[in-house]
Amino acid sequence: MTYELIQVRTEGERVGVITLNRPKQLNALNDALMDELGAALQAFDADPAIGCMVVTGSEKAFAAGADIGAMASYSFADVYKGDYITRNWEQIRQIRKPVIAAVSGFALGGGCELAMMCDFIIAADNARFGQPEIKLGIIPGAGGTQRLPRAVGKAKAMDMALTGRMMDATEAERAGLVSRVVPLEKLMDEALGAALMICDYSQVATMAAKESVNKAFEGSLADGIHFERRLFHALFATDDQKEGMDAFVNKRKAVFKNR
Ligand code: CAA
Repeated sequence: MTYELIQVRTEGERVGVITLNRPKQLNALNDALMDELGAALQAFDADPAIGCMVVTGSEKAFAAGADIGAMASYSFADVYKGDYITRNWEQIRQIRKPVIAAVSGFALGGGCELAMMCDFIIAADNARFGQPEIKLGIIPGAGGTQRLPRAVGKAKAMDMALTGRMMDATEAERAGLVSRVVPLEKLMDEALGAALMICDYSQVATMAAKESVNKAFEGSLADGIHFERRLFHALFATDDQKEGMDAFVNKRKAVFKNR
């Protein structure tokens, strides 16, 4: 497939890198871009050589939100019947391998929500996060009212959703929205370093870790612990568990076979 609104490459033959590429519109997210992003993520997910993906934008903007020009004339019937957002944005939730968001510049509205749909966010020191939909007479519509409070707690999520203010990278790290903040020029090195580290581990184990951590956000604690325990037990059926533990006991580097 050829892409027009994203750029797709691999790094070290093991990391799939997707760069959102509508720079003049600050990577505003329209249907065509989200279709391309979903297709690229699915292709990497299906490729056995790929162990992790990185989604990034430009220095100025990860993404400044859903495309307001495209949305402006939508009616309720249009968005409801067309299943707007659900139809193509949520493909990222079906991706089973880890996806890292490398965020510099603006991550606003749907851009912040897209970053939060990834498994974790590494931010450049110029990153700014926000849910300014309230200024447009709407509310966050791609999971922001659910994922933001889970990440930063009710007080800050309410503040962000109700005032529409932006959070800088320092505040975002302090609040737990991002896992690390690095100087802008180090952003891709840091994200690719984390991705390559993940690729060194068993794909079975990294997929299971992702699925299990996500359970913590999607159900009760009891259900999550039960699910985690079942997957944890199941991993003892893999060759990679035997290899990983044998390597530790014998003080050597593990060589995982992804089975
Ligand atoms: N949709 C469409 N176009 C956008 C856009 C968006 N979300 N954000 C920026 N652009 C466009 C601007 O219209 C402008 O285009 P022109 O050059 O053709 O005029 C171009 O990108 C550059 O933007 P600015 O001139 O505004 O740049 P700036 O540096 O002065 O400001 C900004 C940057 C603060 C991010 C400002 O562009 C802005 O506030 N953007 C809108 C942010 C927003 O409201 N996002 C939420 C969208 S709603 C949503 O996402 C719903 C949902 O939950 C799914």
